Amino acid sequence: MGQRLSQIEWSDRDKLGFTDLDIEHRGLVEIINRVIRAINEDDQVQYRLHANNFAQALILHFANEETFLHEIRYSHLDKHRAHHQSLLEGALAFNRLSHSMEDLDTLGGYLEEIKTALLEDIRGGDHYFLKFLETEGADKTVKARLLG
Ligand SMILES: [Fe+2]
Ligand SMILES: [Fe+2]
Repeated sequence: MGQRLSQIEWSDRDKLGFTDLDIEHRGLVEIINRVIRAINEDDQVQYRLHANNFAQALILHFANEETFLHEIRYSHLDKHRAHHQSLLEGALAFNRLSHSMEDLDTLGGYLEEIKTALLEDIRGGDHYFLKFLETEGADKTVKARLLG
């Protein structure tokens, strides 16, 4: 393909401080990096495998994160869920596409969009949970447990 895709570099700044979510976020980054490497290496077996793994991991992660957000009574849950839904639809569409076509420039273009949306979620949207808990978090017990 024309241009090599860059992988995501995980940094401690990406952590929220909620261990389970942080582990899952890091896992998602690792899986999408495997897809990126496989696309760069034109390794069809591997990018198909990891595109599928990525979509499955997203399904699991979003379910866990939305349960958590429900528990802390996050005020923007509906909006955040809609964002998850569009990212998941993108990942599922990419997975289907990766199994039915071989044009690496097209696949790479879609993957770049998914990568951007994942980063927006981890580095952007998900960091509002902390702000929410620190400011308007409704449940004092949950807040004390999570923030120590
Ligand atoms: Fe997340
Ligand atoms: Fe999220």
